[in-house]
Amino acid sequence: MFRKGECLPNVHLRDVTLDNFHECISLEVEESQKGFVASNVKSLAEAKVNPNLFPLAIYDAVVMGYEKPHLPMVGFTMYEIVAGVGFILRLMIDSKYQRTGYGRAAIQEVIRRLMLYPEVELIATSYHRAHKTASKLYRSLGFVDWDIEWAKNHQSDIFLKLDF
Ligand SMILES: CC(C)(COP(=O)(O)OP(=O)(O)OC[C@H]1O[C@@H](n2cnc3c(N)ncnc32)[C@H](O)[C@@H]1OP(=O)(O)O)[C@@H](O)C(=O)NCCC(=O)NCCS
Repeated sequence: MFRKGECLPNVHLRDVTLDNFHECISLEVEESQKGFVASNVKSLAEAKVNPNLFPLAIYDAVVMGYEKPHLPMVGFTMYEIVAGVGFILRLMIDSKYQRTGYGRAAIQEVIRRLMLYPEVELIATSYHRAHKTASKLYRSLGFVDWDIEWAKNHQSDIFLKLDF
């Protein structure tokens, strides 16, 4: 999962609350990336009605320990825990902060968190089949193809599970 010699900016994940909600919904991806991820507003609305969803704001790890973050939010992620599977459902890094290691670090942090739940027996995710960056990123972290029957009804997406 961690590559030797790699120096990653760590991330810090925090709940989305009344204090950082507006910042969260104002995060943006590139226009060309909009088809790859739902808006944060939609994700937060889904999480409001679905207790299996866990939405989290992504900050640089420098913010850790500060009650009020003194640096801007850099991204958003959301996972789902259902039927033994911890599923990384959403991940976005604001276009201003992309390609600086936050996306990779956020996935690693979500994996760490999911491994702490006794009911999570498998960690999985999916990406749009045209999304070359997501494919490369998840596979470099140890994800492999997940041949699950119901994925056949979602032909536009590729499903992966973590090989651990
Ligand atoms: C996918 C995404 C989360 C990656 O976040 P990020 O912070 O830019 O990623 P990182 O900086 O950690 O880079 C991870 C790897 O992806 C590569 N990468 C990131 N953006 C890339 C791009 N636009 N084109 C090509 N490669 C890219 C990096 O080079 C790096 O590869 P390396 O480790 O081999 O050097 C981000 O591009 C994003 O938010 N995209 C829009 C939302 C989206 O597509 N979400 C769905 C994810 S399934």
